[in-house]
Amino acid sequence: MTIKILAASGSARRGSFNQKILDLAALGATQAGAEVTAVRLADFELPLYDADLEAEQGVPGSVRALQALVAEHDALLIATPEYNGGYSALLKNAIDWISRSREDGSSRVALLSGKVAALVSASPGQLGGLRSQTGLRVVLDKLGVLVIPEAFALSVAHEAFDADGNMKDANAERLIEAVGAALFRTASRLA
Ligand SMILES: Cc1cc2nc3c(=O)[nH]c(=O)nc-3n(C[C@H](O)[C@H](O)[C@H](O)COP(=O)(O)O)c2cc1C
Repeated sequence: MTIKILAASGSARRGSFNQKILDLAALGATQAGAEVTAVRLADFELPLYDADLEAEQGVPGSVRALQALVAEHDALLIATPEYNGGYSALLKNAIDWISRSREDGSSRVALLSGKVAALVSASPGQLGGLRSQTGLRVVLDKLGVLVIPEAFALSVAHEAFDADGNMKDANAERLIEAVGAALFRTASRLA
């Protein structure tokens, strides 16, 4: 059975460290046997969640597209930047929209509940954005997503890559790829 993983980062920044480690974790998942779809959340141009907008105009088409992608995948691989101790508004806004009822009226809980997820983070700081993972875990847990214990937080991220964008520390690279592989293994067992 093919295990499909949806990979997304909470940073839209050009040269984002989180995007770099997301790509590595996705590579690990692919090498383990998963089929990975990488999306850029910013490309969906989601409006800021507003209940009045939803009531008056309905759920935007871009949200429907994102919901359909989530529905098609068994697992989520998420890289999260840390802003003031929390994860990014880009991620929270996407989660809030995804959690709304689907077009066919199916329960808003059903879409995310039962998915498996793995988290990675990167930051120039010493904790590597670990606090953002903690907050994201709480929200995903509330939505019924099983977040696996395997994770990675890349500290001092601004010094972690060489001029070509490759990781200087081969061991850290291996550990990040291992997160993707672990997500594949857990999703396979649960499938
Ligand atoms: C508003 C703001 C708040 C930040 N707060 C934190 C923080 O609490 N902890 C941290 O480690 N880094 C913090 N940073 C630094 C980010 O981790 C850094 O900009 C990082 O490169 C963002 O991820 P990216 O490279 O994937 O875009 C903050 C940055 C901004 C712009």
